[in-house]
Amino acid sequence: MKNISKKSIIYAALTVIIGILINRLCTEIVAATNCPLYLDSIGTMAAAAIGGLAPGTTVGFITNMIGGLSDTSTFYYGIINVMIAVIVGRAADKGRFSRPFDVIRLLPYFLLLSVPCSFLSYILFSFDIADNVAAPVARAISEGGAPIIVAQILADFCIEIPDKLISMIAAFSITLLIPAGVKKEMIWIAGREVKQDGDRKNVSSLKKQVALVLFVSGFAIAIVAFVISFKTHLEARVAGYPDGDYDIDLLRTETFLYCGKMFSAILGLLICIVSYSMLIANYRMVGPLRLMTREMKNFAYDDEKGRDQSVKNIDELNIQTGNEIEILYRSINKTVKQIDEYIDTTTRQAKTISELNVNIITTLADIVESRDKTTGYHVKRTAEYSALLADKLRERGKYTDILTDEYINTLRIAAPLHDIGKIKIPDAILNKPGKLNDEEYEVIKTHVDLGREMLVNAAETLGSTAYIQMATDIASYHHEWWDGSDKGYSKHLSGTDIPLSARIMAVADVFDALVSRRPYKEGYPIEKAVRIIKEESGTHFDPEVIDAFSELTDDFTEIVRKYRE
Ligand SMILES: [Fe+2]
Repeated sequence: MKNISKKSIIYAALTVIIGILINRLCTEIVAATNCPLYLDSIGTMAAAAIGGLAPGTTVGFITNMIGGLSDTSTFYYGIINVMIAVIVGRAADKGRFSRPFDVIRLLPYFLLLSVPCSFLSYILFSFDIADNVAAPVARAISEGGAPIIVAQILADFCIEIPDKLISMIAAFSITLLIPAGVKKEMIWIAGREVKQDGDRKNVSSLKKQVALVLFVSGFAIAIVAFVISFKTHLEARVAGYPDGDYDIDLLRTETFLYCGKMFSAILGLLICIVSYSMLIANYRMVGPLRLMTREMKNFAYDDEKGRDQSVKNIDELNIQTGNEIEILYRSINKTVKQIDEYIDTTTRQAKTISELNVNIITTLADIVESRDKTTGYHVKRTAEYSALLADKLRERGKYTDILTDEYINTLRIAAPLHDIGKIKIPDAILNKPGKLNDEEYEVIKTHVDLGREMLVNAAETLGSTAYIQMATDIASYHHEWWDGSDKGYSKHLSGTDIPLSARIMAVADVFDALVSRRPYKEGYPIEKAVRIIKEESGTHFDPEVIDAFSELTDDFTEIVRKYRE
């Protein structure tokens, strides 16, 4: 909903001013011509039809206040002009002030409104016929034998019917003169734009609830003021002021006391009304909004358990305010459930894709492995060793800034690609039954650069991920030596310049080569392999990784047994 524009406010102000002027002008014409009508609400009706309740009731109220300044009896009927604005405003809200016939259908409401006015007149004129434009008709009916109150009501009807019909037709005619652009701008003031979308019945309910609270409050204030005035009036009679013997000081005191009673009682009532309004606002609006805000702030996206609890909490709020807040709650509840389902589905799909990726990688690595007929379960075992080494290093408090859960998981699935470059090594060399000569060994050594090349190309095609980056590091540097000596290849990096993943893989790779059988050697016993590895701590291998390795002999032995050739 857009904010009310300055143009709308100017139009609303003009509507109010012109409405009051029309009301006053018609009243003056009626008075000057002795016409037996009121015609004091044409401006009110027109303002309410064009601009809704706010401009309409303002015109009605101010018209009566101005009228009261010249004739205080007008104050008695202050509510009537405002109620006329309410009837016409509500009708216009529902689109029932757009055709002449619609306008006539409002007449019964105005007649109903005139009944309490008749009673008021009856009381104010000491239970006799009121001295107003309906008096001749009322007297005639009364003389016909009808009770005075009945005569008053019927006589008021006789004036009201032509008065309100003429007023409505005049107001309706005024609305036809208003340019479409002004009417369009005024719908924001009238609050009618909301009804153009969605559920008509429920969308206006919050407005209805607020209007009901305000109406009941206003009515209560009017009743209290009337009771105080009437009681004071009766007491003044009992005290008695003989005609012609007025005590001005006493009158001033009585007036002051009357105002004091009125002020005190109305203020007390107002505080009660504010208290109840706060209670209702809290129950119908603020409370439910606060609960929804709290639960939405706690709504967890990352953790399945937390998310389920959030969805449950929001569902259990079960907000039933019977207004837009309830509609908002239902929408939020539905959206949250949909988000939850969406996240679950996405997570399941991501897991499936991840598993598929691992399977593809393992299959790819198996293809490489199957070409190298000497290595068997080498890639599976080295992946397991690497993950164990990483876990142990973290447990020992080493490289904890690098070794996150995510890093170790990535290491486990990237490790199988460490010898991916071997796919480009000719079979004659890769599967040579005997020991390699120097020239052949140089060819084998190129597998690290070939592997890096393949994975860099893969990153360019598929996009660089932590996984491909780590696979590239491992494939490129798993044959580097910690001391940077020429025994390592191919970049001769040293120390921590060698990525941690590659330093871990170096230990896993060499250990597995030592314990595995080759065409030119038997597999070494585990103890011998462990000893050789430990001897190369600080030269070939990262000493921290070797310290972790030393604590893992049993686990490595178990893996060797599990994936025996
Ligand atoms: Fe290798």
